Amino acid sequence: MKKIEAIIKPFKLDEVKDALQEVGVDGITVSEVKGFGRQKGHSELHRGPEYVVDFVAKAKIEVVCEDNMVERAVEAISAAARTGRIGDGKIFIYNIEEVIRIRTNEKAEAAL
Ligand SMILES: Nc1ncnc2c1ncn2[C@@H]1O[C@H](COP(=O)(O)OP(=O)(O)OP(=O)(O)O)[C@@H](O)[C@H]1O
Ligand SMILES: [Mg+2]
Repeated sequence: MKKIEAIIKPFKLDEVKDALQEVGVDGITVSEVKGFGRQKGHSELHRGPEYVVDFVAKAKIEVVCEDNMVERAVEAISAAARTGRIGDGKIFIYNIEEVIRIRTNEKAEAAL
């Protein structure tokens, strides 16, 4: 199992959610975050002095899925989140060691 963590532009959240549902993911966690990439937040908002770093509002999406779904999920996120402009975001993929459904104590893939 893998966790896909995507940092995207907030206005793309609904499109990305719909794309992931079409792929058939079992669950999604979303949070409001702030961050910057290699432009240090510049020109996504405004041009300031070079030494100023601006945090830009982003949405973070976390999805844990079976290995065989990762490629489709990543493709769905990229296609839905892409505008072609700077700040479109980034996708990080982690190995997941264990999943436990609290209600039933099911483990691993059965708990997704
Ligand atoms: N190396 C990183 N580590 C942690 N978070 C990151 C990293 N790079 C980007 N992020 C997060 O992703 C958001 C979007 O990054 P962004 O798309 O601007 O990346 P970039 O590398 O600058 O690419 P681009 O040139 O397309 O803008 C950032 O605001 C930050 O929250
Ligand atoms: Mg950037």
